[in-house]
Amino acid sequence: MKTKIFAAMLVVLGAVPLAQAQQTAPPADKGEYVARAGDCIACHSVVGGKPFAGGLKMGTPLGAIYSTNITPDPETGIGNYSLADFDRAVRGGVAKDGHNLYPAMPYPSYAKITDDDVRALYDFFMKQVPPVKQANKPSEIKGVMGIRWPLAIWNMLFMDKGVYVAKKDHDDAWNRGAYLVEGLEHCGACHTPRGLAFQEKGLDASSGAFLQGAELDAWSAPNLRGDLRTGLGGWSKDELASFLKTGHNDKAVAFGSMIDVLNNSTPYLSDDDVNAMAAYLKSLPATTQQAAYVYNDAATKELQSGKPQQPGAAVYLGNCVSCHGADGKGQAPFIPPLAGNPAVLDGIPSSLINLVLNSAEPLVVKGMPDAYRMPQYRVQLTDDEIAQALSFIRGAWGNDAPAVTSAQVKAMRPITDPSSDRVIVLKMR
Ligand code: HEC
Ligand code: HEC
Ligand code: HEC
Repeated sequence: MKTKIFAAMLVVLGAVPLAQAQQTAPPADKGEYVARAGDCIACHSVVGGKPFAGGLKMGTPLGAIYSTNITPDPETGIGNYSLADFDRAVRGGVAKDGHNLYPAMPYPSYAKITDDDVRALYDFFMKQVPPVKQANKPSEIKGVMGIRWPLAIWNMLFMDKGVYVAKKDHDDAWNRGAYLVEGLEHCGACHTPRGLAFQEKGLDASSGAFLQGAELDAWSAPNLRGDLRTGLGGWSKDELASFLKTGHNDKAVAFGSMIDVLNNSTPYLSDDDVNAMAAYLKSLPATTQQAAYVYNDAATKELQSGKPQQPGAAVYLGNCVSCHGADGKGQAPFIPPLAGNPAVLDGIPSSLINLVLNSAEPLVVKGMPDAYRMPQYRVQLTDDEIAQALSFIRGAWGNDAPAVTSAQVKAMRPITDPSSDRVIVLKMR
């Protein structure tokens, strides 16, 4: 329950289709590159709207808030922000008029951005982003909770103020990777578990909670540490880099809110930067002792016999086998394997349930839409059937994740139903 509230409280993130942001052009300058790495567009735009004009609705249990217009329009945007004003908003979480920003804007991570990068970012927004006249929508947080001053206390308690400082015991590539992952790319905003005050439990490599996996926005962002089954311990550095460049590798395909990152950010980074992030991530130690994943063909034989014993195997044969295969190996790199896939082994099953119910947003890497996507089964399959199929794949081919219950599937239906008012997920359009 706790995680649900965190999820609802803080998150955000809409994938912005490519055409809208002219994303096919290579980054023209340093500022644009930094804006890509910060993925500013994912939050500060809506589908069908102008780039960076804001207006993305983010639901919270206290009421919705909206991202703001950060185009250089002087009346409705940030046109009269000085560099110092801009800096205070991006790295300090305080708007020009002095009000504290909600940490849905990831300033606790952006606090690590260097002076040079802030300046480049400012120049990009002021000189290259076309101004758009579009008034900000007021926050719908009512009454006492709408008062922003407690955020100042929050900042005092939870912000690790200060620009990223290179660690002397690591090489340049590792430090560059750390700067991107902990700072600009704010990977922890989704992948790090949150505490009672909704703060990320760790903001850098010195914390074992950093990137340990978290549930947010009705998706579970898995563990990115060295854990052998539920983390990235079984992925090579190259496999990780290829996932960040293309959304694919031999072990997985991106979906859920990770699509925001792939459609707008990491594929636009240089190979050196992506490799640096991969090297840094591979250095994060496991937090749980797990045996390495080993493939087991018992489920393959059960499926091939045509006489499945488990109810979930029958659902799998009827609906999933044509793509993911009786051997659970899919057709990498386009159709992901389910055998040994950390997203399938994730302790929190919300991503799997959400994906099977609703499928995923299109993955569009640098203008190229993915040819294969997962169908949705919201109408076609019952809660029982989805729970059975997921429990089956979580136990088949050497996988060893806990079963999924039909109550868990039932609970996910209304909160991920696009046509329902009861949506608590933060991405609302
Ligand atoms: C995860 C979502 C998210 C991302 C990513 C994000 N922002 Fe924001 N940003 C917000 C939200 C939400 C607000 C408004 C918060 C509020 O009203 O308290 C905001 C507010 C701001 C403001 C204050 C504007 C004003 O009018 O008061 C600036 C400036 C800003 N963001 C710049 C950026 C830049 C530059 C980037 C990329 C480096 C970025 N943001 C990335 C969500 C995001
Ligand atoms: C907006 C939330 C969000 C942000 C920001 C985010 N991720 Fe993710 N990520 C997810 C979700 C949700 C998944 C699970 C779906 C999937 O596997 O694609 C995921 C999956 C992944 C996976 C696949 C893991 C697996 O076990 O299959 C990797 C690797 C990854 N993210 C790395 C990163 C890195 C590196 C960053 C920062 C550059 C990042 N993510 C930023 C939400 C996010
Ligand atoms: C038409 C082919 C197709 C069918 C049928 C299909 N899938 Fe998928 N599946 C995909 C593709 C492609 C992806 C990659 C992510 C996406 O497209 O959303 C995927 C992703 C997944 C993932 C996430 C793994 C990852 O790393 O991306 C799971 C779990 C999954 N499918 C389970 C199932 C189950 C269970 C069924 C049957 C109820 C099923 N799939 C039916 C094509 C299919």
